[in-house]
Amino acid sequence: MTHHEPRRAAGRHFLQIPGPTNVPDRVLRAIDNPTMDHRGPDFGRLGLRILANLKQIFRTAGPVVIYPASGTGAWEAALTNTLSPGDTVLMCRTGWFATLWKDMAVKLGLDPVFIDTDWRRGADVAAIGAALAEDSAHRIKAVCVVHNETSTGCTSRIDEVRAAMDAAAHPALLMVDTISSLASIDYRHDEWGVDVTVAGSQKGLMLPPGLSFNAISAKALEAAASAKLPRSYWDWRPMLAANATGYFPYTPGTNLLYGLDAALTMLVEEGLDNVFARHDRHAEATRRAVRAWGLEIQCAEPRHYSSSLTAVRLPEGHSANALRAIILEKFNMSLGNGLGPLNDRVFRIGHLGDFSDLMLVGTLGGVEMGLRAAGVPHRPGGVQAALDYLAGNA
Ligand SMILES: Cc1ncc(COP(=O)(O)O)c(C=O)c1O
Repeated sequence: MTHHEPRRAAGRHFLQIPGPTNVPDRVLRAIDNPTMDHRGPDFGRLGLRILANLKQIFRTAGPVVIYPASGTGAWEAALTNTLSPGDTVLMCRTGWFATLWKDMAVKLGLDPVFIDTDWRRGADVAAIGAALAEDSAHRIKAVCVVHNETSTGCTSRIDEVRAAMDAAAHPALLMVDTISSLASIDYRHDEWGVDVTVAGSQKGLMLPPGLSFNAISAKALEAAASAKLPRSYWDWRPMLAANATGYFPYTPGTNLLYGLDAALTMLVEEGLDNVFARHDRHAEATRRAVRAWGLEIQCAEPRHYSSSLTAVRLPEGHSANALRAIILEKFNMSLGNGLGPLNDRVFRIGHLGDFSDLMLVGTLGGVEMGLRAAGVPHRPGGVQAALDYLAGNA
C-alpha cells in the first residue's frame, strides 16, 4: 500500500468494500445518543424490541443472540456451543472466509473434513450429499457453509444443502455463515432448517462493525446441553436467560444497539423482499458493466452469483492492488482487495447495505475511470450498460 498524506479530499468517500458498508445517517444519529444504564428499566424495553425484531430478519421464530464482537466471535460461538472435542465437521472450502472458519475449528480441537471448490462457485452440494450418505455411522456432527463467500462473490444454495442433508437422512447440524448476506440476499433460517446462523452487523444491517449474532434452532439448543467444548463468554445459556427480560449477562454494545434498533426499523419500512430485490438489481447492473468492460467475473456459475458483491478478475499481468490504489488516490473510493490466493488477482465491488442507483453509478464510474487511469485493457461502456439496465428496470 502506498502511504497517503493527510490531504483533504472534497466530497464523500465511497466505501465500496463488501463490508463494512456505508452507515446511513439515521443509524449514525441513533448511535449518537447518550449511553444508558444497561441494567436500568429503559434498557430492558430496548432489548426486548430488538430481540423480537431481529427474528424477522433471520426469518426465524426461535431465539437470536447478540454478541459485542465481530463476526469471528459468532463463528466461535456456533462451534463451541454445539460440539465436543474431536467431533467431525464437514466444511465447504468456497473461499478465504470458509478457510478461516475451518482453521478456527482445528484450533478448537474439532476434526474438520474439507470439501473443496475452485473458489469460482458456491458449495458443492453433490459432494456434501455423497459425504453424508457415506457416513452411515453419523460421525459428522455438523455441516458448515458460508452462504455468501465475501472473498469470491459466490453464494451457496442453502436450500439445496438442506435438501441434500434430508435426502441422506443425516442428523448433522447445519451451520451457516450469513455475515455478508443477511439483510441483502434472501435467507430463511427456519424454512431451510438451519440450526445455527452466524451474522455480523457491518454489512447488510448497515451498522458499524462490533456486533454479531447467532440464530439458534431447537435442535441446536438441545445439542448445547451436551456439547463439551469449553465455552464461557460465548455460552448461549446465560445469554438466553438474561435476554428473556431484554437484558444481557455482561455489558452489551449499548450504542451499537441503538443503531441496530434504527436499522431494523429501516429494513422493515423498506420491506425485506424489496431489500433483496434492490440488491439483486444492483448486482445484475454491476455484472453488465463488468461484461461490457470485457473483464471476467470471478464467479463462474450464474446460479451462484452474489447479490452483495462482485469480484472482478484482472487480465494476466495487471495488478488489482495497483488499480485499487489509483482509484483510492484519484477518486476517493475504497474497493475490496483479493484475499489469500486471489490477492492482486481480483478486486471486489461491494454493492450491499444502504445503497442506491446513483451510488452504484458513482461506484461504477470510479471503476471505469480507474481502469483507464491504471492502463488496464478494457472496453469503455460499462457504466452505460449499467445505466441501460437500471433505466429499463426501475
Ligand atoms: C463471510 C464472512 N465470514 C466471516 C467474516 C469475519 O467476520 P469479522 O471480520 O467481522 O470477524 C467475514 C468478514 O468479512 C465474512 O465476510
